[in-house]
Amino acid sequence: MQALALFVQLALAGYVLATVPLTNIERKTTFPIVPNKFIVEFNTATDIPGKRSDETTRAHVLRSWTERGVGFHVGHEYNAPGLFVGAAITLNDVKQLGQTAGVLAIRPSYTYQAPKPVFSHVITGTSDPAVPPETQSTHILTGVDKLHAQGIFGTGVKIGMWIDYTHPALGGAIGPGHKIVGGYDFVGDDYTGHGTHVAVSVHIGILGADPDNLFNISGVAYEASLSAYRIFGCSDDGTVTDDIIVAALLLGRSEEQDILTLSLGGADGWTESTSSVVASRLAATGTVVTIAAGNDGDTGSWFTSGPGNGVDVISVASLDNTVVQLQNATVHGVANPGIPYYQLWPLPIPGEWPIYATSNDTTIVDDACDPLPDSTPDLSVFLTVVRRGTCTFAQKLTNIADKGGNVVLIYDNGNGFTLIDTGNFTNATLIQAADGIWLVSQFIAGAPITISFPQSGGSFAFPDSSGGLISSFTSYGPTNDLYFKPAVAAPGGNILSTFPVPLGSYAVMSGTSMATPFLAGSAALLLGVKGKTTAVALAARSLFETTAQTIGSDHTDAAPLQTVTQQGAGLVDVFTAIHTETLVTPGQLVLNDTANYKGFQSFTIVNTGNTVKNYTLNHSPAGTALTYQPGTILPADGPVPLSTNYATVKLSATSLTLHPGQSSTSLPTLHRHDPSTYPVFSGFIKIQSETETTHVTYLGLKGSLKDVQVVDNTNAAFGFDIPALIDADGDVQTGPQNYTFSGSDVPLVLNRLAFGTPMLRYDLVQPDISLVTTLNQRSLKDGTPVLERSVFSFPHGKPNTFAQVSIVGSLFEIDYVPRDYETRYHTLQFSAQFANGTDIPTGNYRILLRALTVTGDNTQEKDFESWLSPIVGVFPNGTSGSA
Ligand SMILES: *[C@@H]1O[C@H](CO)[C@@H](O)[C@H](O)[C@H]1NC(C)=O
Ligand SMILES: *[C@@H]1O[C@H](CO)[C@@H](O)[C@H](O)[C@H]1NC(C)=O
Ligand SMILES: *[C@@H]1O[C@H](CO)[C@@H](O)[C@H](O)[C@H]1NC(C)=O
Ligand SMILES: *[C@@H]1O[C@H](CO)[C@@H](O)[C@H](O)[C@H]1NC(C)=O
Ligand SMILES: *[C@@H]1O[C@H](CO)[C@@H](O)[C@H](O)[C@H]1NC(C)=O
Ligand SMILES: *[C@@H]1O[C@H](CO)[C@@H](O)[C@H](O)[C@H]1NC(C)=O
Ligand SMILES: *[C@@H]1O[C@H](CO)[C@@H](O)[C@H](O)[C@H]1NC(C)=O
Ligand SMILES: *[C@@H]1O[C@H](CO)[C@@H](O)[C@H](O)[C@H]1NC(C)=O
Ligand SMILES: *[C@@H]1O[C@H](CO)[C@@H](O)[C@H](O)[C@H]1NC(C)=O
Ligand SMILES: *[C@@H]1O[C@H](CO)[C@@H](O)[C@H](O)[C@H]1NC(C)=O
Repeated sequence: MQALALFVQLALAGYVLATVPLTNIERKTTFPIVPNKFIVEFNTATDIPGKRSDETTRAHVLRSWTERGVGFHVGHEYNAPGLFVGAAITLNDVKQLGQTAGVLAIRPSYTYQAPKPVFSHVITGTSDPAVPPETQSTHILTGVDKLHAQGIFGTGVKIGMWIDYTHPALGGAIGPGHKIVGGYDFVGDDYTGHGTHVAVSVHIGILGADPDNLFNISGVAYEASLSAYRIFGCSDDGTVTDDIIVAALLLGRSEEQDILTLSLGGADGWTESTSSVVASRLAATGTVVTIAAGNDGDTGSWFTSGPGNGVDVISVASLDNTVVQLQNATVHGVANPGIPYYQLWPLPIPGEWPIYATSNDTTIVDDACDPLPDSTPDLSVFLTVVRRGTCTFAQKLTNIADKGGNVVLIYDNGNGFTLIDTGNFTNATLIQAADGIWLVSQFIAGAPITISFPQSGGSFAFPDSSGGLISSFTSYGPTNDLYFKPAVAAPGGNILSTFPVPLGSYAVMSGTSMATPFLAGSAALLLGVKGKTTAVALAARSLFETTAQTIGSDHTDAAPLQTVTQQGAGLVDVFTAIHTETLVTPGQLVLNDTANYKGFQSFTIVNTGNTVKNYTLNHSPAGTALTYQPGTILPADGPVPLSTNYATVKLSATSLTLHPGQSSTSLPTLHRHDPSTYPVFSGFIKIQSETETTHVTYLGLKGSLKDVQVVDNTNAAFGFDIPALIDADGDVQTGPQNYTFSGSDVPLVLNRLAFGTPMLRYDLVQPDISLVTTLNQRSLKDGTPVLERSVFSFPHGKPNTFAQVSIVGSLFEIDYVPRDYETRYHTLQFSAQFANGTDIPTGNYRILLRALTVTGDNTQEKDFESWLSPIVGVFPNGTSGSA
């Protein structure tokens, strides 16, 4: 399961797994939730049945559980009336809780994986006298330079974030009078020496670094007051859970932070997790909340992260910086201006190195993926040149190391000139394809060429060819229920920033994690100028969206604009957001899907200047995202194909004149499209005056989300049809089979979600149930639909019926599950117990898997996709079954 937590992007040599071998399937349950932990929200109304007048709802609910003999444990408690009143509860029987008066909602506690620190080869203590002044290209791209020139630095604005405060460029200490004024450690282990704070100081540098340092970089709002809320543990596989994120968010609010920023999350696709809901409520009530959109761009559409998915949160996309601070290697013996390699600091390799190419043919795609031939010389005296591709960098470097080589230049194969992960091979780095091909040609020609790595003077600002575009790693929205995510983009690709002192103090990093503090800093500049009022905070997202700069899908004139599902409303322009005299609201229009189509929408333009403005309005479409490839059931991988089959937009007026203070207009929108690829159409309505350009951004889906297939019932993933039951021998169960539930003799359900589902259930049913399932109906004889009715609220289900189907008992339920992808799937291992911990009586059953379609009604069997397992005999040890 790949729940990305810290959005740092790192290129790995890609290799494609066509199908997952059955032997790779681990015997465990894989869902991103904490077992038996729930976040309960209390209803704070006074008229709760059974509640004493002198009792809080919390006390009432806990008392009634105790009186009913429910065993539970209370963890974090939340008491923010109007925002969130509740508690994290650990227990076995969630059903009993749901039926308690005073419980408003019970949600699972989702887990997010700990940040995985990623960095280039940074060297402690190196100070390169020839390091050029940083151009602050990210500030120029976004108008921050102009605000700094006006003396605007976010003074007095309070920002709560997850940070490391030990860096000298960050004040060097914590407490009143320092840059980091306060904070709280939610996990409470040793703060130093751990990887988790690596990215932390990058985030704070982007936001708050003081200028006049080695690279002369400054934070976007370096006079703001920062508070650190540390919410990850130090272990490499540590995770953070919703209950802790919620506690951090609410503490930030109670300490009156103006802005809260989180560079974390997990691929989600839904807006419903507790942390998403609470983050959204904070944003809707006057705290600016910026959260990373996620780094899952290669997984395609419908995959932005929570809690950034919270409806009113500003979810942040990343834009690649236009320059990258890199090093040059020097070529001796032949005229050459220098070979740029992807490192911030020079590789610490002395001397001049003759070169050796592992292949003379630069078109060989799997160069050095196999052990090098016996004819290979001792490579310890050579700099080895190898092509990127097919296998991992580590594999190539291991094969080279087996011949003694450890100084290696890997030339790109068209995947992109980026930071790469060479693991322990710290003398290896990436160069551009053309430089590699040139080196190989010199090698073939026997040219008297050597390479050195100057320890000073080799640093330069490399102009990045993908600079100025949306970073390909940015996760694509919209959410599964069509919410507009991400909201806006900020620079996040190839960002030079502060780094923990023991690790070199500075580094270049990429990720939506880097874009997020940039936007938080932008919000601080906005609040610093316009005032720290609720009204300004509530207007922030619309201001950033309507004044953003639209971004192309590539640098050619003919290319469509990048889909709104990846760029949001465009790249933030902080100067314009602060100084625009034209206010447009709302900033985003969601037309929803065909079944829930909202084609007529309006927006308001207000001229807040003191002169008459003449406006022209026109439609500027963005590329239509073909989120599915025809004939497939999984969304298309990123980069998502774009079509120029745009929506058509009809404006009620294409020009208007507004006197100061006057406002106007409305807009009906129409569109046309072929629905087979679930195209998400999007674009901008540009509103231009003589001096200003603003826009409203729209998106919608041609097709109905209810028709999207949720459960994969193909053999594409494993070579056999899924869902499937896997037995103790690791075989697919085809006929009736008994299980002892000892050791591994336990049934494992294997399934893959082609799309997110609002509800995934596994119930135990009678073996002779007569039910027409949607996914395997041909394999079940004489099925007739069962028609019973039941009404329920979460947690769902009366004991014996669910959505009109008779059940023996519930085994597992999880709501708002994100979709899977090519190599991700779910397994669920059963004990011989129902979800409530009661033993299942011995006997024969089937497992009924059901997934609700998006926008489906969870009381209606017809809105579920369903699958019935072969007969499962439950005969634990000591009963009369045979194994
Ligand atoms: C650092 O940048 C500022 C502008 O942000 C400039 O005024 C100053 O001269 C720069 N300092 C150095 C050492 O380049
Ligand atoms: C580095 O190499 C590039 C490309 O060969 C060249 O344009 C640039 O001037 C070099 N910069 C330095 C500082 O050597
Ligand atoms: C890198 O190369 C230098 C110089 O040859 C050598 O001393 C050092 O051990 C190498 N480091 C690694 C990790 O191979
Ligand atoms: C890298 O080196 C460390 C420390 O020497 C070692 O623990 C780790 O297993 C190595 N990693 C790989 C992938 O070889
Ligand atoms: C590659 O070129 C070098 C230098 O010309 C030559 O010595 C070597 O034999 C060539 N290798 C192959 C496999 O042709
Ligand atoms: C789209 O319509 C569905 C069904 O009515 C609704 O659940 C969903 O919230 C809507 N999305 C937005 C962004 O309004
Ligand atoms: C706006 O349009 C009116 C009428 O077309 C024209 O008289 C006026 O000069 C225009 N205003 C500006 C600022 O260009
Ligand atoms: C169940 O029986 C098997 C042998 O049939 C034994 O290895 C195992 O320990 C037993 N488990 C329990 C929980 O009794
Ligand atoms: C647990 O669930 C099963 C199946 O629905 C039910 O028969 C049993 O009574 C429940 N146990 C308790 C303690 O509620
Ligand atoms: C499962 O065990 C029951 C009870 O012992 C037995 O009647 C039945 O034949 C067994 N089924 C299979 C498929 O082994």
